[in-house]
Amino acid sequence: MLLLSVLAKKKEKEVPVWLMRQAGRYLPEYRKLRKENKGFLDLVFSPKKATEITLQPIKRFDFDAAILFSDILVIPLALGQQVSFEQGLELSPIDVENIRVHAKEISHKLAPIAQTVQKTRKELAKDKALIGFAGGPFTVALYMLQGTSKKGFDEALSFAYTQTKAFEKLLDDLTEATTYYLLDQIKAGVNAVQLFETWAALVPWHKQKEWLLKPLQTMIHAVRKDYPDFPVITYLKGVGGFVPYYAAHSQTTAVSLDSSYPLELLDDIECVIQGNLDPHILLNGGTFMKESVFSIKKALKGRPFIFNLGHGILKETPLEHVEQLMKLLRD
Ligand code: CP3
Repeated sequence: MLLLSVLAKKKEKEVPVWLMRQAGRYLPEYRKLRKENKGFLDLVFSPKKATEITLQPIKRFDFDAAILFSDILVIPLALGQQVSFEQGLELSPIDVENIRVHAKEISHKLAPIAQTVQKTRKELAKDKALIGFAGGPFTVALYMLQGTSKKGFDEALSFAYTQTKAFEKLLDDLTEATTYYLLDQIKAGVNAVQLFETWAALVPWHKQKEWLLKPLQTMIHAVRKDYPDFPVITYLKGVGGFVPYYAAHSQTTAVSLDSSYPLELLDDIECVIQGNLDPHILLNGGTFMKESVFSIKKALKGRPFIFNLGHGILKETPLEHVEQLMKLLRD
C-alpha cells in the first residue's frame, strides 16, 4: 500500500493522494443514495450502504485511500446525546456532569460502523488503504455544547471559560470514549486513522498543550499500547504556529496541514506531511490549480508526503476538476 509505505517514511516515486470529505455531497452517486434514504445517520449505521459510499470515490477517481463513511459526531451519539442532520445540524442539550463512559456501551452502539470497516476492507483493493477517523476532543466538545453548527461556537466557548472544570471533564470523557472507538475501528481492519481537530484555532495559545496536545497524545499513546507503530494522521486547522511543537511531542505519524501552512518552512517538522491544496482552488480548477499543485510538489520534493486538501472538498466542486487534479498528480 503506497499510503502506508509513505507513512512508514519509505522512499516512493509516486505521491499517494486522497481528499478529505471525498465520500459525500459533491458526488452525484452519493446525493442519489442520500435522497433515496431516510437520513444521513441511517446511511452511517447501515454497513451495506456505508460501505458502498466509502467505495464510491475510489471507483470514480482511483484514490490511494478510502476514508470510512461516518461522522465525528457519532461519539456524542454513543454518549447518549441526540444528533440530527436533517434540518441542519442539531444536538440535544447535554448535562456534562452526568456523562459516564463505558467501553462496552460505546462498542455496542457503534458496532455497525465496525461492521462497515470489516466489509469495506474485504471489498477494497489490496493496494488501497482504509482510513478510519474520529474527531479531536476539543472540536467534538464544541459541537456538543453549542448544539448546532449555524451560529459559531459562542455558547460552547462561554462554557469553557466559565465552567472550565466541567469543560475539562468533558474533554477527558471524550478522550476516553474516542479511544475505545478508534481501537474498535483498528480491530475491525482500518490501516490508519486520522484525528480531525478542525476547530483547533479557537483554543487560546496558553491552553493548546492542555486542550489540544494532551487529549490527542493520550489517544495516540493508548492506540500504540495495543498496536505499536500504528499510523496516526492529525489534522489541526488554523494553528500553524503550534504544529511543529505538536509534531515533536504527540508521536503522531503525520500532520495534515491546512492551506495556509507555508510548505517551504517545514525544517522544524520531522513527521510525514499531508496536505494542503485549498479546496477553493480545486473548486475552480484550471491553470491556477495546475500551478498550485506544482508549488506543493516542489516544496515537498524528497520528503514523505501525502497529497490532500487543506480542508474538506466543497460540495459544489465539479467532478472534472477532481479528474484534472488526478491527472496532474499521476502523469
Ligand atoms: O468523506 C469523508 O471524509 C468521510 C466521512 C466524513 C463525514 N464527516 C461525512 C459527512 C468525515 C471524515 C467527516 C468529518 C467531520 N464531520 C468533521 C471534520 C472534518 C471537517 O471537514 O472539518 C466535522 C467538523 C464534522 C461535523 C459535521 N458533519 C458537520 C458540521 C456536518 C454538516 C452539517 C450540516 O449542517 O449539513 C456534517 C454532516 C456530514 N458528514 C455530511 C457528510 C457526507 C453531509 C451530510 C448530508 O449528506 O447531509
